[in-house]
Amino acid sequence: MTRYEQIADALRAQILQGQYPIGTRLPGIRQLASEFSASITTLQSACNHLQDAGLIEARSRSGLFVCPPRHATLAAPQEPAAPHAPVALTPRALTAEVMRQSLNAQNIPLGAAIPQAPFLGLDLIQRIPQRGLRQLGHDLKYAVPPGLPALRQAIAHAHTARGMPTSPDTVVITNGCHEALVLALRCVTRPGDTVAIESPSYYGFLQAMQGLGLNILEIPNHPVTGLSLEALDFALSRWPIKALVVTPNFSNPMGSLMPSSHKANLVNRLRAQGVVLIEDDIYGALHYQGTRPDTCRHFDPAGDTVIQCSSVSKSLAPGLRIGWVVSPRLTSELIEQKLLLNIATASHPQAVVAEILSNHRWAQHLQRIRPRHAQAMMRMQQAVATFFPEDTRISQPQGGFVLWIELSPTLDATALMRRAAAQQISITPGELFSVSGQFRHCIRLNAAVDWSPRVEAALAFLGQAARDPRLHTLTNAPKNPASA
Ligand SMILES: Cc1ncc(COP(=O)(O)O)c(C=O)c1O
Repeated sequence: MTRYEQIADALRAQILQGQYPIGTRLPGIRQLASEFSASITTLQSACNHLQDAGLIEARSRSGLFVCPPRHATLAAPQEPAAPHAPVALTPRALTAEVMRQSLNAQNIPLGAAIPQAPFLGLDLIQRIPQRGLRQLGHDLKYAVPPGLPALRQAIAHAHTARGMPTSPDTVVITNGCHEALVLALRCVTRPGDTVAIESPSYYGFLQAMQGLGLNILEIPNHPVTGLSLEALDFALSRWPIKALVVTPNFSNPMGSLMPSSHKANLVNRLRAQGVVLIEDDIYGALHYQGTRPDTCRHFDPAGDTVIQCSSVSKSLAPGLRIGWVVSPRLTSELIEQKLLLNIATASHPQAVVAEILSNHRWAQHLQRIRPRHAQAMMRMQQAVATFFPEDTRISQPQGGFVLWIELSPTLDATALMRRAAAQQISITPGELFSVSGQFRHCIRLNAAVDWSPRVEAALAFLGQAARDPRLHTLTNAPKNPASA
């Protein structure tokens, strides 16, 4: 290997390890030459090599920058056209089948949106001194709603520091973000009501709504900017919508990020119509670059429109089952619903999370895992671009860890899921993310995995299977009842 190739390899490793995240500027050639004790010409050759490989790019007069992955030239997934009419969902055996595959520890975990250990905070949990838990006055009695004061204080403090003044009295602790959402829906809807939701949408939401006897109105989601405000306007003028459920920051499965101006606009539109906005901010802390994106709640200082839900499931540990819901207007209703449903969230995990969130190590932990997610996403995108058919479209999330993939319109992704399951590979088929038969040719992958030759072989297998004519059995594009 020549000297310039060695240096290119070293720089590539530094980029992939997150030393220079996507979009950052590399040190100048002179500085790099001195760091590597090599000549400027050698460094120039090394950088040319990385430019040819698509890892960095030269911007005129500004220097060399780390590029988004090569396949960025692939088109973003297509946006569905107009909203569908509300649908009452019936129980689906497919959801149970996919969850069984996803949670089977023998399978390569590309299915569930659950980060593997290096992306979570298990070390923080192990390091907590028992003394710390005792100091919280934690005695294993019921931590009755709204929940352990120390945890509510830590959450309120974090929200206030991010520009959303929050009293601990308005924070209600829940069993994960899922329960936060269920409590919010129980407070503002009755069976038979219509609730709007971004589409494609996290299937847990759809199940929760089904459990509450709600009609679901799918609003198209733009892959980059999130929920289509035009489609929402159309839906609001046509159907009696009680609430909107949305994940503005790194939605699941598309990974879209709603611009701040859309968030403000959305809150104002819903307030004017008396529609409640249930905001899920579970992925907001996992941005790849810059500062944490703001939330819809930022634009609702009086707290009359937005109910905000979140949890530590994606950044600390999903098994702790600690989430929260904040709504100054509905706090007592939320507490009442929580008491009715399951009395209280377990007190020990509440004490653990209170201890972690109030320690300075929490911010360091988030700073450590963000570039890890960015690199993992880049590697997953590059592998898909390498192994999957040419007409594959992939999302370009700027945070979170789920990758949305649109395959050829004839590919039956549920059949692909079953073929993969036979090889001990779990993936999530697109049809789960809709109640109106859309996205049957799409899949979602979890990018937060320990990279290994086995994972790479799994992606090669999926790419190969996606070419198999026997899986190309879809013929009709799903009908759009709204335009029928
Ligand atoms: C958007 C979204 N909201 C909520 C949840 C559920 O979160 P929790 O495990 O905290 O209940 C998930 C899990 O995948 C999710 O993706």
